[in-house]
Amino acid sequence: MGTGRISFSATCAVVLLGLIMNSSALHCNRGITSSFIRVSSPSVDMPFDSDVFQVPPGYNAPQQVHITQGDHVGQAMIVSWVTPDEPGSSLVTYWPKKSKEKYVAEGYYLTYNYYNYTSGFIHHCTIPNLKYNTKYYYEVGDGNVTRKFWFRTAPPVGPDVPYTFGLIGDLGQTYDSNKTLTHYEQSPLKGKTVLYVGDLSYADDWPFHDNVKWDTWGRFTERSVAYQPWIWTAGNHEIDFEPLLGETVPFKPYSSRYHVPYNSSGSTAPFWYSIKRASAYIIVLSSYSAYGKYTPQYTWLEQELPKVDRTETPWLIVLVHSPWYNSYNYHYMEGETMRVMFESWFIQYNVDVVFAGHVHAYERSKRISNNAYNITNGLCTPVSNKFSPVYITIGDGGNIEGLATNMTEPQPSYSAFRESSFGHGMFSIKNRTHAYFSWNRNQDGYAVEADSLWFHNRYWYPTTETTISI
Ligand SMILES: *[C@@H]1O[C@H](CO)[C@@H](O)[C@H](O)[C@H]1NC(C)=O
Ligand SMILES: *[C@@H]1O[C@H](CO)[C@@H](O)[C@H](O)[C@H]1NC(C)=O
Ligand SMILES: *[C@@H]1O[C@H](CO)[C@@H](O)[C@H](O)[C@H]1NC(C)=O
Ligand SMILES: *[C@@H]1O[C@H](CO)[C@@H](O)[C@H](O)[C@H]1NC(C)=O
Ligand SMILES: *[C@@H]1O[C@H](CO)[C@@H](O)[C@H](O)[C@H]1NC(C)=O
Ligand SMILES: *[C@@H]1O[C@H](CO)[C@@H](O)[C@H](O)[C@H]1NC(C)=O
Ligand SMILES: *[C@@H]1O[C@H](CO)[C@@H](O)[C@H](O)[C@H]1NC(C)=O
Ligand SMILES: [Fe+2]
Repeated sequence: MGTGRISFSATCAVVLLGLIMNSSALHCNRGITSSFIRVSSPSVDMPFDSDVFQVPPGYNAPQQVHITQGDHVGQAMIVSWVTPDEPGSSLVTYWPKKSKEKYVAEGYYLTYNYYNYTSGFIHHCTIPNLKYNTKYYYEVGDGNVTRKFWFRTAPPVGPDVPYTFGLIGDLGQTYDSNKTLTHYEQSPLKGKTVLYVGDLSYADDWPFHDNVKWDTWGRFTERSVAYQPWIWTAGNHEIDFEPLLGETVPFKPYSSRYHVPYNSSGSTAPFWYSIKRASAYIIVLSSYSAYGKYTPQYTWLEQELPKVDRTETPWLIVLVHSPWYNSYNYHYMEGETMRVMFESWFIQYNVDVVFAGHVHAYERSKRISNNAYNITNGLCTPVSNKFSPVYITIGDGGNIEGLATNMTEPQPSYSAFRESSFGHGMFSIKNRTHAYFSWNRNQDGYAVEADSLWFHNRYWYPTTETTISI
């Protein structure tokens, strides 16, 4: 239940969003810096023998089971898991609820070495040709130990399909991480798919990038991600580039363990790709892969944005790890070079919302742009722009590095709401014109919304939104 007192240092009660067409100065010069007082306690990793890290019983029992969308439209699922002792089977047995018949899909396994760590047998299996909006059971393992899970496929892609996405970033594996995950699971809004904005296990914060931490993170998150897809974004803690350890292949542990359907969106690398899910078109970008002009990611995005058909998928959502608009004194302006490359495209193609992580706090921007600057004209202040996305930083999952508490002062006019607390978000699409975003902080009850906004779709209903901040 709600703890602490909530008050605001806001100078304007009503935040005027995009009232004026296109480029105009911001009317309201102060956003809200929440003065919520939290009990501050250090974020410490849960010990190795914690309940959440328990190894499932039985010889070679599959562990770290996780699923993600396996194609462009939501009719396939990638199932991944690890067997610790021997390869075992890479088959997934699956069947729709109530079906008498069972089906089998065949995957494969891989292993990798990192410094002196050798991974278990990491299996990846794509289940194709699934029916939409259907509950499936699936089973992995063989011999004496099989484990059974289930998932529900997304509804068919279409413009008015309601769907609720959870938003989690920078989770790690501390007691706070566990609270964030629990709050997501217990939310009455019932998220159906997680949009994960990067930085998973934080193994690299440990000596020799202790890859056992990747395994414990896999076991910790299984209770959610074995049952609903998490859509992955690569963060800086996934790079694991460490020449001093002889590790010079970026993203080796991450890309060995977490597969994504990049090929089905014409991408040539797993770090940038897109999917359609229900009424949303989701574009995942990589802050840590080249994005300058002529690079593969740049070329892909340039060709990708015109493909988005807003009459089919009204909601255009972008995930990227490093935020483009961030008023904390952490990672300040790290997202700037990518913003310079891509911001004008996001305005041109009316992106609805950009979710980022990296900064361990919460922040929501107004609809603003800052792309008029051309070296000599001095036009380098963010301005209201009704065709711009809202930028939301949701890197507040609760990892070992702790909260970002130090903010730039005064709060910049583009920043609508910011608070340094752990939590998660929900983006609930209602129809082609309306989606409801809300942010829950871990100190509150599961149903409490510390910040929220009714989104108006930028293609179908590009009108003023009213901020509701309680
Ligand atoms: C890896 O090397 C480190 C440092 O020498 C050592 O502490 C650790 O126990 C080793 N781990 C394995 C799995 O050999
Ligand atoms: C099942 O376990 C028993 C005892 O550990 C073992 O002898 C047997 O080979 C296992 N069966 C399979 C199919 O793995
Ligand atoms: C993690 O959260 C779950 C669900 O709330 C709880 O059952 C479990 O005991 C927690 N574990 C730790 C180590 O906090
Ligand atoms: C990758 O996608 C292309 C079409 O986009 C397809 O022709 C090709 O077979 C796919 N490759 C793999 C390995 O799935
Ligand atoms: C830069 O912007 C100014 C003012 O908008 C304009 O006059 C000038 O031509 C621009 N320079 C270039 C190189 O486009
Ligand atoms: C906050 O960040 C600024 C800029 O990096 C720094 O000068 C200041 O000392 C920091 N304040 C605290 C309390 O850490
Ligand atoms: C779309 O959803 C919003 C919010 O629930 C609702 O107010 C509006 O009437 C809906 N539009 C249509 C056409 O149903
Ligand atoms: Fe990060």
